[in-house]
Order: sequence, then C-alpha cells, then structure tokens
Amino acid sequence: MQLQLATWQEIDAYLKRSTAVLIPIGSTEQHGPNGFIGTDAICPEFLAKSIGERTGALVAPTLSIGMAQHHLGFSGSITLRPTTLIAVVQDVVNSLARHGFDRFWFLNGHGGNIASVNAAFSEIYAESSLGTASSNRPSLICRLKNWWETPGVQAISTELFAENEGSHATCSEVSLTYYAYPDHVKQAEMSPPRAPTGPILDADDYRRRFPDGRIGSNPSLASVEAGRRLHDAAVKDLSDEWTAFAA
Ligand code: NI
Repeated sequence: MQLQLATWQEIDAYLKRSTAVLIPIGSTEQHGPNGFIGTDAICPEFLAKSIGERTGALVAPTLSIGMAQHHLGFSGSITLRPTTLIAVVQDVVNSLARHGFDRFWFLNGHGGNIASVNAAFSEIYAESSLGTASSNRPSLICRLKNWWETPGVQAISTELFAENEGSHATCSEVSLTYYAYPDHVKQAEMSPPRAPTGPILDADDYRRRFPDGRIGSNPSLASVEAGRRLHDAAVKDLSDEWTAFAA
C-alpha cells in the first residue's frame, strides 16, 4: 500500500491494523560512468514497492535527496547538509507520529545517510527523554535498514561480482536499477576496469581520488538479470525483517 496513492480514510483504516510505516530513503548523486544519478533512491523505492505488495506494508514517499556532500564534484549531484537531513527525518517521523504511527522502518540506499539518520533517531528519542515531545505521544521505535545487507543479496553479490562489487557505484546497485528501468541500461568504458579505493572526505578530494566517481567497483558487470535475482532475494529477506519489525 503506497501512502501517496491512498486517501486519508484508508490511512485511518490501516492504522487500526498496524502502526508501522516503511520509509524508503536514498540520495541523488553520481554513480560513475554507467550508473543512474538516482540509483540510491531508486533501489530502496523499487524494493519497498515490492515489499509493500508482498506484506501489505504502508510505504511512504521516498526521501530521495540525502547527505551526499562528497559527490558535489560531479554534475547533477544534490546534497542536504547533515543537519538538514536530521531535521527532515525528524519532521517526517513527527508528522506521522501525530497520526498514531509509532514504528518507523527506514529502508536505506546510501551509506552516506547512515550517520545523519542515526543522529536523527537520537534527536527523536531525546524529545521523549527531555519531555519536549507531546505528552500523548507513544514511545517511538526507529530502525534503519540498508537494503544490501541481507544474506540473499550478499550471497548473490559474492557469487556474481566478488571483488569487483566495490563500495560505490557497485555492480549490485547498478544491476538493481537496470532491472527497475531496463530501457535505460547504459554502456560505458571503465578505465581502469576496477576503480581505486580510499577514504571519503570533501568533494574536491573525492574527485581527485576517484576520477570517474566509482569506488572499488567494476559496474560493467552489472546486468538486468543480476538485478532480477538481487531484487527477488532482497524482497524475500527484507519482507521477513519488516514483518518481524511491524509485529
Ligand atoms: Ni549508491
């Protein structure tokens, strides 16, 4: 069930059977020579829709812009500063909490979001601890889940890509987006085939260390068929986790 396609009466009815909501969160940032700029938002959104169909989960609109300051050396990338992302997550949770939601499962597509989203959770818990939350608000439970951290996804990634998976513009995430949007598959020369690795600092430093945007990956190995396998494995594992969280 997608929140954006529901009426307020349908949300009222949903709240009578569940107070849990699934919120995809991603980023809008370069993903190397053959990856979509929307990769990190598309992956959790695509999986969330399938999880919603399988489990009946209420899926909120995707938070498509995240904390991606280090990608600003590449055209098209957009970032929220960490404090802005913290405020966005707080406001989204507090809006939904007002209606009676008390469990928030953020399905994440971008490693750069993790620190800020966890800081937002601490801010939300501090509202209760400090007594600044509304007095009739239930205790809230917030969880961040990275879509790629499931046993099924890890097994397929290792089998198909091994050391070529990398950590940014990975073979797996590019494959998943190709399965979601097969009419937009892109071909590009990768030089070197496997990208360098190193620390992530600011945008200028990132561009010097990782000239085409990739880190450690060779996403020329990405394919629609790999994306189909990753999708099916992720949806199975993540549906089980969602169901346990929402219960
Ligand atoms: Ni990514």
